[in-house]
Amino acid sequence: MTNRTPERGEGMMSRGVAIGWVIVELFLVFNIAGAAARSPAEPSADGRQRIVLSRVQRDQVLAEMRRMLESVNGVLRGYVANDLPTIASAARASGMAMAADPELKKKVPAAFLRLGMQTHKGFEDLADQATAGGTREEALAALAAISNNCVACHTIYRFDAPR
Ligand code: HEC
Repeated sequence: MTNRTPERGEGMMSRGVAIGWVIVELFLVFNIAGAAARSPAEPSADGRQRIVLSRVQRDQVLAEMRRMLESVNGVLRGYVANDLPTIASAARASGMAMAADPELKKKVPAAFLRLGMQTHKGFEDLADQATAGGTREEALAALAAISNNCVACHTIYRFDAPR
């Protein structure tokens, strides 16, 4: 009798542990299955499309983004200073020479790539225009058009942490 109580207690405990493991296993199985089923094209919690890149590629694209923000800043500063050479060089820095590398192109949706290319082309055209006698008003209008792409792409896509 005195021996049975702890035995039963142990039995209940191991059953409890076993049930715990089943729950853990079910959680793992469904979580892994869920992760495998989530394609990069599936919307994230905030409704944007997820693009999963390697850490290096993600850092590379984000660096490209920050450079484009610098270009926007440079064009605006050039506009305020009425300095067309500054406008041109700031825009050129985010021109076609910045086009995505082939490995990255394979991992992003075609629409993302198109929007990105249009943006670089926009900066390239702005730089050409500013060096070929364009006015600062034309440069500002071109920048406004380019910034539509920034807003559009940020509304649709996000980069997710690689797993
Ligand atoms: C083709 C799509 C696309 C275009 C065009 C685009 N971006 Fe981005 N940008 C992104 C994505 C995706 C992120 C990551 C957002 C996230 O994960 O929440 C990002 C992030 C950024 C960041 C954050 C960088 C960091 O270090 O975290 C900046 C700044 C930025 N973009 C600036 C710009 C500017 C300025 C333009 C336009 C001149 C622009 N982007 C155009 C897709 C784009």
